Formats: sequence, C-alpha cells, structure tokens
Amino acid sequence: MATIISPSLLSCDFANIQRDVEMLNQSQADWLHIDIMDGVFVPNISFGLPVMEAMHRHAKKPLDVHLMIQNPDAYLEDFHKAGAAFLTVHYEACPHLHRTIQRIHQLGMKAGVALNPHTPVSVLEDIIEELDLVLIMSVNPGFGGQKFIPNAIRKVAALKELALSKQTDLIIEVDGGVNGETAPLLIEAGANALVAGSYVFNAQNPAQTIADLKKL
Ligand code: DX5
Ligand code: ZN
Repeated sequence: MATIISPSLLSCDFANIQRDVEMLNQSQADWLHIDIMDGVFVPNISFGLPVMEAMHRHAKKPLDVHLMIQNPDAYLEDFHKAGAAFLTVHYEACPHLHRTIQRIHQLGMKAGVALNPHTPVSVLEDIIEELDLVLIMSVNPGFGGQKFIPNAIRKVAALKELALSKQTDLIIEVDGGVNGETAPLLIEAGANALVAGSYVFNAQNPAQTIADLKKL
C-alpha cells in the first residue's frame, strides 16, 4: 500500500489558507495535518478551532488533527464538530488514555496517540489494540522546520513489531523533519503515513514535492 502523505498546514501561508488548502485538494496528499498547540503542553501557540473550521470548509480530504494541548479531554467534542476525521492526543497529556480513546471513538472519529521523542513505544503495549494510529514524533513538538531525530527510525521498527505481535492493524505515522532523505528510511522501517510541513510548503513546487513523497 502506498504511503499516506499528510502535509502539515502549520507551514502554510496563513494569509492564504484557502489557496493552500485548495492546492492540497488538487495534489496527491491523502490527508491534511492540523497542528493544534496551546502554549502550555508545548512552548508555542499555533491556531485553534475557528481557524481549523475554516480549513475544513475548503478541504476535500480527511483532517488528521494532532492535539499538542494539555487536557485534550475537554475539547474532544469541539474538534469533532470542527471536522476532525483522525484525532490524535499525546500520551504525555492523558492520565486516563483508555477513557480518552473510547470517547474519541464514541464521537465517531479515528483515534491516535502521539509519542514524544523520549517516550518509549512499550508504553502502548496495553492499549495498542484500541488504536487506529500511532504518531511517532521525530522532533520535539512545538515548531515546524526542526532537525529530524534519527532514533525515531528505531521506534518505528519497534512499533511495527509490537503491532505485528498483537496482530493489530495500525497506521504508523511519523511527524517532524520528514523530507526526501528521511522519508525512505522511515518507510523502510515500517511507517505507512508521513507528515511533512516545511519540506512541502517551502518547496518551489509543493504539489510536485507531495507527488515525489508519494512515489517513495
Ligand atoms: C511539530 C508539528 C509538526 C510540524 C512538522 O510540532 O507537530 O506537524 O508541522 O513540521 P516539519 O515537517 O517542518 O518538521
Ligand atoms: Zn503534527
């Protein structure tokens, strides 16, 4: 199966959101990655629900929403209403992760869990069968354009092994520093979905860059 490509709108031109979303609609992108940062869980503020709703109004593809916020439980319904198809919460922000995942499913969304670079894959051993997606962070969350942390490749392989041992179908997504050099290594290790922000939006031809990633 071809790798799912999920360009991150964090790196789009916020003065031209509609234009950039329409470019993604026309491109080979599979999903639109939406990075929500609260300035508490991560040291940066991105954008919130009204901006995401505006993106959703123009998007013709599923919204892959990455919540980098404290207490995500308080907002699950709001993100559902704003158009999330996949809702990913951080392991580090969820003391009652099982309940959070159940609620995301009850609301009719696919559920994902993101792991910070220091969090081992093994913490998911007792919940992996409930998950649709795991997001391996290959940078510390908070900013686009950071340098890829190579240990993420090993984590992808470990996660794939864990998923196989539980015989569960899992989307293994990687986020941070994905480009033409790191993407093939991640795919080889077992990733089947890739987020790319600056690599896509800083390119001369973003749609072509997406097509190139899709070919890998
Ligand atoms: C980082 C965000 C990423 C970010 C990736 O905290 O979660 O989705 O947009 O940006 P690049 O691809 O530029 O590393
Ligand atoms: Zn992200």
